[in-house]
Amino acid sequence: MTNVSHPAPQVSQNEAVDIAMRHFGIAGTAAPLDSERDRNFKLTAPDHSLWILKIVNASEPLVESEFQTALFDHLERNSPDLAVPRLRKTVQGASLAHAKGPGGGDHAVRLVSWLPGRPLAESQTTPALLESLGSALGRLDRALQGFIHPGALRSFDWDIRQAGAARQRLHHIDDEQDRALLERFLDHFDAVVAARLPALRAQVIHNDANDWNVLVDPERPERVAGLIDFGDALHSVLIAEVAVACAYAILDAEDPIGAAARLAAGFHAEYPLRKEELDLLFDLIAMRLVTSVTLSAARRDRTADNPYLSISEAPAWRLLRRLDRMNRRFATAILRHACGFEAAPGARAVTGWIAANRLQLAPILDRHPATLAKALVPYGDPHNPMTVTSAAQQPEKATAWWDAYCAEHGIALGIGPWGEARTVYTSDIFQSRFVEGARRANHLGLDLFMPAGTRLYTPLAATVRSVEIEEDPLGYGCLVALEHRPQGCPPFVTLWGHMAHEAGRRLKAGDCLEAGALVGEMGAPVENGGWAPHLHFQISTDTSLAARDILGVGEERYHAVWKELFPDAADLAGIPPETFRQNGRSRPEIVAARKASLLPNLSISYSEPIKFVRGEGVWLIDDRGRAYLDCFNNVCHLGHAHPDVVEAIAGQAAKLNTNTRYLHDAIVTYAERLTATLPAGLSVASFACSGSEANSLMLRMARSHTGRSEAIVLDWAYHGTTQELIDLSPYKYKRKGGKGRPAHVFEATIPDSYHAPAEWPVDEHAKRFAESVAEQIADMARQGRAPGLFLAESIPSVAGQVFLPEGYLAEVYALVRAAGGICAADEVQVGFGRVGSHWWAFETQGVTPDIVTMGKPIGNGHPMAAVVTTSEIAASFNNGMEYFNTFGGNPVSCAAGLAVLDVIERDGLRRNALEIGNYLMARFKALQDRYDVIGDVRGQGLFLGIELVEDRKSKAPATALARRINDRVRARGVLIGTEGPHDNVLKMRPPMIFSRANADHLVGVVDETLAAVLAERA
Ligand SMILES: Cc1ncc(COP(=O)(O)O)c(C=O)c1O
Repeated sequence: MTNVSHPAPQVSQNEAVDIAMRHFGIAGTAAPLDSERDRNFKLTAPDHSLWILKIVNASEPLVESEFQTALFDHLERNSPDLAVPRLRKTVQGASLAHAKGPGGGDHAVRLVSWLPGRPLAESQTTPALLESLGSALGRLDRALQGFIHPGALRSFDWDIRQAGAARQRLHHIDDEQDRALLERFLDHFDAVVAARLPALRAQVIHNDANDWNVLVDPERPERVAGLIDFGDALHSVLIAEVAVACAYAILDAEDPIGAAARLAAGFHAEYPLRKEELDLLFDLIAMRLVTSVTLSAARRDRTADNPYLSISEAPAWRLLRRLDRMNRRFATAILRHACGFEAAPGARAVTGWIAANRLQLAPILDRHPATLAKALVPYGDPHNPMTVTSAAQQPEKATAWWDAYCAEHGIALGIGPWGEARTVYTSDIFQSRFVEGARRANHLGLDLFMPAGTRLYTPLAATVRSVEIEEDPLGYGCLVALEHRPQGCPPFVTLWGHMAHEAGRRLKAGDCLEAGALVGEMGAPVENGGWAPHLHFQISTDTSLAARDILGVGEERYHAVWKELFPDAADLAGIPPETFRQNGRSRPEIVAARKASLLPNLSISYSEPIKFVRGEGVWLIDDRGRAYLDCFNNVCHLGHAHPDVVEAIAGQAAKLNTNTRYLHDAIVTYAERLTATLPAGLSVASFACSGSEANSLMLRMARSHTGRSEAIVLDWAYHGTTQELIDLSPYKYKRKGGKGRPAHVFEATIPDSYHAPAEWPVDEHAKRFAESVAEQIADMARQGRAPGLFLAESIPSVAGQVFLPEGYLAEVYALVRAAGGICAADEVQVGFGRVGSHWWAFETQGVTPDIVTMGKPIGNGHPMAAVVTTSEIAASFNNGMEYFNTFGGNPVSCAAGLAVLDVIERDGLRRNALEIGNYLMARFKALQDRYDVIGDVRGQGLFLGIELVEDRKSKAPATALARRINDRVRARGVLIGTEGPHDNVLKMRPPMIFSRANADHLVGVVDETLAAVLAERA
C-alpha cells in the first residue's frame, strides 16, 4: 500500500548522474521529473538517447520492484512491438540496481527508455484518439495475459476491487451533498458491484492510464504513441484497465459516456470484453473517481502543499456529479452497444419474438389498428400548427387541428412514429443528461392518436407493474406499465402513457391481465399531461427500469442504443411498416402511367383505386399501411404469400425450371396427386398457364372427341378471355363491345332458384331449369345440329353466385350425353375444396364431368392451370398433332401446385372452409332478419353471395345500393365484390384460412355498412 509518510527519495541530480554511470554505464545529464512516490530523472545520454532513471520509494517492497522488471522483461520477450518503455540492464546484466538513499534506505533503481510523444493531458481528446487509447490498452493487456509474478498480487488503494474502502475516507469530504453523492456510488458498489467482481477475469494490468501516462503521437494526433509508468500495475480485474483509463480520458467531455464507449470499443476490438465486464464499467469509472477524490481529500488534510495529489480533483467532481444524474442502465446500454452487445440482455430476442409472433397478438384497439385508415401526425414538422400549438401547451387547439385533418382525409388513427425528431418537447425535463447542452427530441414510443375515451387493450397477457399519475406539464399524465412474459421470449415491459385517470383507479400493481384485456382509455388533455388525446405506447426491453425512468424521448446520438432498449412498438401495436415508408409511384402517378402505357380497357377496381404493396394471409396491405381483409381474391387460396408455396416456388426456381420435353418428377407426381382428388375416370391431366388456356384446351379436346363445335352454355357465364371463349361467354358477348351470340353457341337459362317462377315447386327446380337445356338441344336439332359440349361453372359466379338446384347437373348431363355431347365443369373459381364438403363443386351435384378445368387457386397466385379428362377423350385428342405448352407443367408450377395440395390436406382447410362457411351463412342469415334489403343469402363453404333487393316481393335489384355497400365496405377496410346481371349480389370468396375472427370482422363491417348506408337513404 502506498505509504505517504515515506516521501519520494531525496536524490540529487548529481547523485542521479552518478547512479546512472555506476550501475548502467551511461554518462549523461539528468533532469528531475514529477512523481508521487518515487524519484525520477530524465537522463540524456551522449548518444542523445533518452532514459528515465527511477529511484524507487524505500517503502516499496522489493518484490514489487522485481514485479515491474519482470513485467518489462515479459513484454520485451513477447511483444517487442508494443510502445512501452524498454528496460536497460545493469552493467552486471541485472534488471534492477540498488542504491542507498540519503536517509540510508535501500532503493531499487531501474533504467527504462524514454518514450517520445506528447502527454494526453496536453492533447486534444478526439473520439479517434480515445479509440486508439482503448486499443493500445487492449494490445498491452492481451500481451500481459498469462503473465504473473508474486509482486503483482499487491494490495493498495488504487486496486478497484478495494474501492469500497473510500467509505472510510468520507469524513474528509466537508460538503454534505458531495458526501451524499459519493455515498450513493459507494452504496451501489457495496450492494451490487463488489459481489460481482470476483467472478470477472483478472490478470496483470497497467491500472493507471491517466492522461499523463498516455503519450500521443504529435505527428498523428489521433494515435496513442505509448504507455508509460507501470508503477500501479497489479493483478486485478481486467475491466479496471478500461475503467481507470476512462476515469481520466472522459473528464470534462461533452459526452462522457460516449467518450468511454469509444475507448471501450477500441479496447474490445483488440481484446474482446465480456458483457458482465461492461455491465460494471459505469460504476467502476465512478468508483475510480470516488477513490481519487477521497484520497485527495485525505491527503490534502496532511499534505496540503502537494499539488500533484489534487491535480484532477475538480474535473473529477464535475464528472461525478454528471454521472450521478445519469441512469446507469442507459449508460451501460451505450457501453454495451458500442462493443457490439445488445443494449440490454434479451433485447434482440424480444424484438425478434414480437416480429415473429405479430400476427398472433390481440389488437390493442377495438378494431385492429392495421385495418384503420391512418396518417402520420405532423410532429415531425416544426411549423405545422399542430406542432406549434402542442409545444405551446395548447392541447385544445392541437386537437382541433388534428380532428379537422382527420375529417377531411377520412383518417381514423393518427400515428406518431418511433424515432421521430420533434420540436414539441420544450420543457426542462427534456434536457439531455448524457450530452452537454443537448436536448432529448427523438420520440421513443409509438403514438396512437384517437379521440379521448378510445379503449385500449393489451396485445399479450400481462402483469401490471405500476400505475401512477405524472403531473409534469407535457408529462405522461396517467402512466401504466405492464410486464409481459410470453413463452419463448425474454420478459419485457410496455408503457402506456397519457391515459385517462380511470385506469389508475381500476388497476393496481400485481393485477394479471389476459391478452386482449382492457388496459384503459386515452385521456383528455386535462388528464394526459396536456396533449391532444393519444396513447404513448412504448416497449422497454430492460425490465428493471421503473416506469418513470423509461426514456420516452431520447438523444438523436444514441438512436441505435434506444432502438434496442426501447424498440419500436409498431409490430406490437399491429401497425404495418408501410405506414411509415412509402415506395414507388403514388396512386395518381400509377393511374396516369397506366393510361399512358397500358390498354385503356384494363379495368381498375374502385373509383378511388388502391395500391397494394404486400399480401399476408387474409390481408392485403396498401401503400399507406392499411390492411384490408381480403374476402374477394380467390386466387390466394391459402392466403397471400403463403410461406409453404413461396418456399416451394423459390426452392424449385433456384434449382431448375424448364419445359415438359425433359423428364422431371414434379409433373408426374403432381398429375397423380391432382387426379387422385377427382372421381375415378378423370385420370389424365394436362397443364397450362391460365384458366382461359385451360378452357381453350378443353374446347379443342371436346371438338376433336365429338367432331362438333356446338356448345351449350349458361346465360351470363364467363369462361375466359380468348376469342373462342368470349364466344362461349354471354357475360361478354351480350354486353358492351360484344358481338352477340355466335351461331354455334346455345344459351340455357341460369338455374337461379331465387328468381325461379314462384309457381315452381322447389323440388322441381332442377328439372324445370334443365328444360331450358332440352330446349336448346331441340333448337339445335331443328337446325340440323347437335351438342358437342355442355360447359358450366359448377357454381356460376359472375351470374351472381348462383347455386345450382339439387340434381340440376345430373338432369342436364343426361340430356347432353344422350344427344352425343360431352360435359365439362369449369372449376376455375370454385375448385380446390372451396365448397368445403368436397374437393370439387361439381361433386355437390353428384355428377362426374368428362372434362374439368382448373385455374386461379391452383398455384395460390402462381400462374398455372390444368385440364383433367378421361383416357377416352385424351385418346381422341391424340390425333397426331403434338401438344406442347412452353410454360405449362414446368417444374416450378408443379412445385407450387403440390405445395397447395399439401397445405390444404395438412391444415384441414376444406374442413375450415365448411365450418367458417356455415358460420358466415348463419351470421348473414341473421343479418337478413334485420335488413329487408337482403333478399337472399347463399353460399357453400367459402363461396358466398348476398343478393340485395329493393323489395323482397318484387326482388327488384338494388344495384345502386350494392355498389354503395361495396364501396363503403372497402372504406371500412374490407374487400368484397358485386356480381350478377344486375350487379346487385355481394360476392365473397375469402381465403381458405379464413378464421372465425375474420368472419366476425367481415360480418361486423357488412352490418355497420348496411346500417350506415340505409340510415343515409332514410
Ligand atoms: C369461371 C372462369 N373460367 C375461366 C376464367 C379465365 O381464367 P383466366 O383469367 O385465368 O384466364 C375465369 C376468370 O375469371 C373464370 O372466372
